[in-house]
Amino acid sequence: MPDFDSYLQEKREQFEDDLCELLRIPSISTDSAYAADVRRGSEWVANQLETLGLQVELIETKGNPIVYAESPPVPDAPIVMVYGHYDVQPPDPLDEWITPPFEPTKRDGNVYARGATDDKGQMLTHVKSLQAWMETQGKLPLQIKYLIEGEEECGSECLYEYLTEAKEKLACDVVVISDTSQFGPGQPAITYGLKGIAYFELRLTGPKQDLHSGTFGGAVANPANVLTQLLGAMVDSDGRIQIPGFYNDVQPLSDRERSQFGGLPFEEERFMEQIGVKELHGEKGYTTLERRWARPTLDINGLWGGYQGEGGKTVLPAKAGAKFSCRLVPDQDPKAITAALRTMLAGLCPQGIEMELIEMHSAPGFVVPLDSPFMSAATRAIERGFGRSPVFIREGGSIPIVTEFKEKLGVDTLLLGWGLDDDNTHSPNEKFCLADYHRGIKASAHLWHELSRVALES
Ligand code: BES
Ligand code: MN
Ligand code: MN
Repeated sequence: MPDFDSYLQEKREQFEDDLCELLRIPSISTDSAYAADVRRGSEWVANQLETLGLQVELIETKGNPIVYAESPPVPDAPIVMVYGHYDVQPPDPLDEWITPPFEPTKRDGNVYARGATDDKGQMLTHVKSLQAWMETQGKLPLQIKYLIEGEEECGSECLYEYLTEAKEKLACDVVVISDTSQFGPGQPAITYGLKGIAYFELRLTGPKQDLHSGTFGGAVANPANVLTQLLGAMVDSDGRIQIPGFYNDVQPLSDRERSQFGGLPFEEERFMEQIGVKELHGEKGYTTLERRWARPTLDINGLWGGYQGEGGKTVLPAKAGAKFSCRLVPDQDPKAITAALRTMLAGLCPQGIEMELIEMHSAPGFVVPLDSPFMSAATRAIERGFGRSPVFIREGGSIPIVTEFKEKLGVDTLLLGWGLDDDNTHSPNEKFCLADYHRGIKASAHLWHELSRVALES
């Protein structure tokens, strides 16, 4: 195994400069006004891979381009696919950023910018490790296929289609994704499970226009009142979700997993301090890590209706609505849950209110096997990169395409996260620890070596 230490040391500045260049591109996929910047983001990634000698394609879709690149085949070595995303979430609220979201700034060992950790910085570690191999060895020890998309933050619709189309081309033995977190500072982790999701918008319409609440109140159903009743009926005071059948397919947590979670050095006090709360709250009978990683949840993501301006306005609004989502655990079926939710809401909604329930996107949750030779290889690579053995965790976020990799390509995914829970992903002042960026690059360089030695079955 080559020793990359002096090479990586020498390249630190260039690798940081390159990351900052990518971070300056506002590739916000949820907002069509940024379509040109999203395209520039894809071109930047394609150009990096092309410069390193890979065969690169910018795949046009009806949405944002997918960057696909592959290195030459290596006989008898596994093929690995790196998945990541160059698109980012919108930066708002803008006035809460200490430095502007698309002017990457280094402070206290971190780089601050939208996308720093999710997922530009993490994704780039696997490109920089390629650079390390090419510039010191002239070749890779195994074949890598890069699949870097621009729609992860808005549902990956075009990638789903492409996966069906390009099944043969994308054939591989294992997928590697760095788009998750370490357990904590100085404690790397391998994530073996993520939650699924079912995302909804609920729209309620009552009278044909806003009404005087004195003249009409009490005589007609108020969409905002009804909204609170419907939303309030979905979770009880013990944190149990009330959608009929919601827990039917949920596997109880095994004693082994509970004791494994319980053995991790999780400090509730620090966790509360990090998010600024005095008490934690959730489903009765479960610990905080169990709730966050392995129990299904329901959260309202936004709600509106009626008067929001200064002063009081006595109005009975004509419309009200909400966005909300369930995070799902393995074996829960998003389709069945959606159907049960629809029936439940229709039963609760009074006549006189028109209800529309829009399914925005959904994906099942998953866990991956812990006992594969790929896991052992990743463990050794992380030990080399981070100087410490990873712990095995689950997380509450979702990367919907992972299930598709299993179903369409028949392969498992290694979730090797270099981020931290306090990186402010999707929030103001997103950051990525620069030391973790460099450790991630080193771990990735070792990963190609470790994976290349995994014997292929059959
Ligand atoms: N990188 C995250 C997924 C993630 C977040 C994994 C936290 C582990 C911990 C990804 O970019 C993301 O934000 N996913 C969305 C998916 C949704 C839009 C379908 C999510 O989890 O909300
Ligand atoms: Mn991400
Ligand atoms: Mn994200």
